Amino acid sequence: MLPPLLAPSLLAGDHGALRSSLAIVEQAGLAWIHLDIMDGHFVPNLSFGPQTLTALRPDSRLFFDTHLMLSEPHRYIEPFAKAGAENITIHIEPDYPHLATLHHIKSLGLQAGIALNPDTPADSIRHLLGEVDLVLAMTVFPGFGGQSFITSVLEKIQILARWRAELGLSFRIEVDGGINIETGLACRRAGADTLVAGTSFFKAADKAQFLRDILA
Ligand code: DX5
Ligand code: ZN
Repeated sequence: MLPPLLAPSLLAGDHGALRSSLAIVEQAGLAWIHLDIMDGHFVPNLSFGPQTLTALRPDSRLFFDTHLMLSEPHRYIEPFAKAGAENITIHIEPDYPHLATLHHIKSLGLQAGIALNPDTPADSIRHLLGEVDLVLAMTVFPGFGGQSFITSVLEKIQILARWRAELGLSFRIEVDGGINIETGLACRRAGADTLVAGTSFFKAADKAQFLRDILA
């Protein structure tokens, strides 16, 4: 079982002062930042592009966990790799060469993740489990922070954790959307080890206490 890890989502940070939001994450003693990249097509929202990662990269030691919510992620692997992404997660739902894209990410020395929306069955990515470092089980429909956790995804997390054990694999199981102390613990009980928290992290008045509670 991998040690639990919390990755704050920068989408919930201060978009007028992103560096200061990264500093808050580093001061909390965390290692990962979750970067939500949106194209206004796969998801009904826009966020930021490679140039933002390029600007943030030199001043940050955080692990850039980059979540591509794009219809054509295969066209953007090089730009995000050059910009400083360290993990790149792509969605299974759009139609593009998933396996070749995962191999491309790995060929650049990055970690590779595959993401599923709440209504996408685990079976859709079973054939890719041996190719990834991370499986992202979305616990909201992607596009916005501050949404409510979709409880039915817990069963999918249990399936992924069972397959990981049965296949002797060691990919991370990451959950993303509506994660707080209560839902985060439920996900960990189901087998998740990597929690993305945007709103709950950045709104927490006492971040040290929040981290003790959510990673207990
Ligand atoms: C949603 C993003 C999530 C979101 C999480 O499309 O992928 O990472 O920012 O935000 P909260 O934790 O506020 O639900
Ligand atoms: Zn995300």
